[in-house]
Amino acid sequence: MEAVTRAMEGLKTAVIGSGSEGKTQVDTGGNLQDLMGHPLESNTQRSGGNLGGKVIRTSGGVTVTSNKDPDHTMRAVCWEGPRKIVVEERPRPMITDPHDAVVRVTSTAICGSDLHLYLGSAPGMQKGDILGHEFMGIVETVGPEVRNVRPGDRVVASFDIACGGCRSCGHGAFSSCDITNPSKDQEMLYGARTAGLFGYAHVTGGYEGGQADYVRVPFADHDLIHVPEDLPDNKVLFLSDIMSTAWFATELGEVGPGKTVAIWGAGPVGILAAHSSQVRGADKVILIDNQQYRLDHAATKLPGLLTINFGKEKVKEALEQVVPGGPDVCIEAVGFHYCKSTAHAAMVKTLMETDTADILNELIYCCRKGGTIACVGVYVGLTNGFNIGAFMEKGLTLKAGQTPVQKFWHKLLDMIKGGKLDPTIVITHELPVEDAPQAYKMFNDKTDGCIKVVLKTSMARSQATGPPSGP
Ligand SMILES: NC(=O)c1ccc[n+]([C@@H]2O[C@H](COP(=O)([O-])OP(=O)(O)OC[C@H]3O[C@@H](n4cnc5c(N)ncnc54)[C@H](O)[C@@H]3O)[C@@H](O)[C@H]2O)c1
Ligand SMILES: [Zn+2]
Ligand SMILES: [Zn+2]
Repeated sequence: MEAVTRAMEGLKTAVIGSGSEGKTQVDTGGNLQDLMGHPLESNTQRSGGNLGGKVIRTSGGVTVTSNKDPDHTMRAVCWEGPRKIVVEERPRPMITDPHDAVVRVTSTAICGSDLHLYLGSAPGMQKGDILGHEFMGIVETVGPEVRNVRPGDRVVASFDIACGGCRSCGHGAFSSCDITNPSKDQEMLYGARTAGLFGYAHVTGGYEGGQADYVRVPFADHDLIHVPEDLPDNKVLFLSDIMSTAWFATELGEVGPGKTVAIWGAGPVGILAAHSSQVRGADKVILIDNQQYRLDHAATKLPGLLTINFGKEKVKEALEQVVPGGPDVCIEAVGFHYCKSTAHAAMVKTLMETDTADILNELIYCCRKGGTIACVGVYVGLTNGFNIGAFMEKGLTLKAGQTPVQKFWHKLLDMIKGGKLDPTIVITHELPVEDAPQAYKMFNDKTDGCIKVVLKTSMARSQATGPPSGP
């Protein structure tokens, strides 16, 4: 219990640090301990990570901070603090490790996971971090050890950075890669390190993101997929993240014929999870949100979809009407920052917990006995009042995770090519990357009918008129 309290203190520090101070380190006064109470190295003893902008290698041989081109700049979307996004001129990244590629970005998107950063809810952001983990473009340069991609190739990147060769990658758990995240903070909090992520908090490495004109992709052979010229960017961009994540949710839930599926969250992930569930032949698919415009949009795009507005109806009662006894599969596509009850909102605000239990408790409450909960909505820390009793007594299964994108993207690309999947159904806005600050606000505030924003760089715009000119 004491160890959990200490870890909680660490998380609080990280959450506070992600606010206006922009600090990233979880510092418990030099006496770091993991959840089991074992001592860990102090901050000053740590190696790896983006510390003070220095280039530091992890033992596995991946460098977090890219070498910079002294002669060329680029535009990049940067995090300056909660609700403060700016577009700045930054030096272009260069090949830093032998397995790297530098990609000239054409299209990039804002993900619901970026909203956790935008709001300052996720720990470990630093002022000036370049955002973006859903992106694609043209390979500009490659390192000497890269074999599968060449300059000029059109590619989509996975949001998770996986080496392809470690024990976790060997199991297909690419989002848990053992070597790409040097964060000791995460090791303290979780007892292990998961994969590095592009453009995300420093507990997931602190790599520069893809909401920029250029981005360095470590382990390019593994973390880039070729995409055919005849498929437009918008059709394939979400292989990078939300299309793969939506499919992953249905894999976790083993969705198929004979199954009923309820999905919490009619954001881009939830809508594409509904699409995936229908494609997999689910008997009934029900989408739950309080944003009527999102439910209406989804119902128009996906005939046969049932919807529940939790602002107008009690979710359990409404579900009982269509699936008596509860759905076989409940998918969580909401995430830790959306509190439903005032009690959890107050606990999060006063840092008594980092994450709300509201949504998962509702899934547990509604799921049929013996059913499965698939959680792809992001959670980062600790929660109070989790309904462990109902979870255990109803014999439920809970599966969760950041998506191992590389496990699914070849199959999904084939399905997109064949017209079985259409990820573009969620796109409501296509804007120049310079409009990122307004786009973040609109996506978060759910104004102007916004569901999914794609940002286009000047490279994409010049593609319409001819090949991009050199540097
Ligand atoms: N696991 C992964 O690898 C992965 C990848 C991408 C996104 N995500 C996560 O998936 C989640 C959804 O992403 P998104 O892009 O769709 O974001 P989003 O924020 O647009 O969508 C969340 C939706 O949930 C709705 N919601 C809020 N409270 C709710 C409640 N009580 N019941 C039902 N719905 C509720 C919101 O109104 C919103 O429409 C986020 O948590 C994101 O971080 C995870
Ligand atoms: Zn994402
Ligand atoms: Zn690995």
